[in-house]
Amino acid sequence: DAAEVVIVGAGPAGLVLGNLLLGAGVRCTVLERQSRAHVEQRARAGFLAANTVRVLTENGLADGLLKDGRQHDTCAFRTDRGEFHLDYGSLGRGEAHTVYPQQHLVRDLVAEFLARGGDLRFETPVVGITGITGDHPAVTAQSADGTLHRLSARFVAGGDGRHGTARTAVPAGAVRRYRRDHGVTWLALLAAAPQSMGPVAYAVHEDGFAGHMARTPDITRYYLQVPRGESPDARPDARIWADLAHRMRADRHGPLHEGPIVERRTVEMTSDVLDPIQYGRLFLVGDAAGLISPAAAKGANLAVMEAEILARGLTAALRGGDEQPLARYSADCLPRIWRAQEFSHWMINLLHGPAGSDDDAVFLRALQQARLESLQTSRRHQDHFAENYVGI
Ligand code: APR
Repeated sequence: DAAEVVIVGAGPAGLVLGNLLLGAGVRCTVLERQSRAHVEQRARAGFLAANTVRVLTENGLADGLLKDGRQHDTCAFRTDRGEFHLDYGSLGRGEAHTVYPQQHLVRDLVAEFLARGGDLRFETPVVGITGITGDHPAVTAQSADGTLHRLSARFVAGGDGRHGTARTAVPAGAVRRYRRDHGVTWLALLAAAPQSMGPVAYAVHEDGFAGHMARTPDITRYYLQVPRGESPDARPDARIWADLAHRMRADRHGPLHEGPIVERRTVEMTSDVLDPIQYGRLFLVGDAAGLISPAAAKGANLAVMEAEILARGLTAALRGGDEQPLARYSADCLPRIWRAQEFSHWMINLLHGPAGSDDDAVFLRALQQARLESLQTSRRHQDHFAENYVGI
């Protein structure tokens, strides 16, 4: 039977959407450029918000994360004035994160999609999307032997990320693109070492930001702010550990548990928001719909929020004959996307002061101190922080 929905991309966005559609009895095909092994090993995010866990649990997709995920509810801020902790799990709405590596979630979602009888084709890049404004949209995909196939469907969902085909299929002028380069670059590291402390730790330092985040008992994520353009390989492991220890002020707060750096990549802090995130019969979801800086770990959580709303809209259109929810997809998502962008932007300014000694930089660094002090001392500010930090 022909698919009713073709989904481009088997990241968290495409896979959650695909599973929700199958659960609602909608026939869908997922086309993914990479191999199964590649997507199941790609380490990215790991902090799942309460809403994400709810969506996954309600749809029978949470067995793995409920078994192996770890509750996380505390973060620490280190500055030259010392350290303070926020037990955000007992602030705001009292929600915690569930720490579960994204590649494990992807592995679970692939297995469940196949178990539900879904059609998932790896190593099948989509090279074009046509007929979006008519009733018969279609995607052209290339199979492993190089032949091109055309798949038509009632609707197409673009979950193929920031450099995917879906974004480019929308004509310039049909969508407004808001964007910002925050001017900050992180070296994102995975160390084969246990976590160095309980909380997520954010170190604000005049040499640049450093961060620490638990992943699994044997793997820990670290971040080190580096100059824009620096190669991920520029710093040998020993230098990385020295920089991390210096900025995290290990001499005052305790040593880091060192281990081999098993993955390193640079991440430029940029954000963009497309408005609307739909065009004709094409619907964008996840990174394809917008990018958010990783400062507040919102990317994967926004993707799941969007996938749930899109699945409801597609199901109403295909099973109930009601296209209204689908028509509102963008309008329903964008306020929540902007709230996440606002918080993420605030986090960037909390964690990074501008370098230099000109008036502007000195003034902004003083504001940064005031912002941290407010967060440290005001219960109302802490509640607001917690609500936005875990919420979507
Ligand atoms: N054809 C088929 N698949 C494609 C194509 C294409 N032309 N282009 C890209 N893809 C695939 C990629 O290989 C990838 O597996 O689309 C998938 C997109 O997945 P992600 O980049 O993980 O994007 P998304 O699912 O939106 O992720 C949501 O999770 O960790 C975060 O950074 C991630 O914020 C993002 C969020």
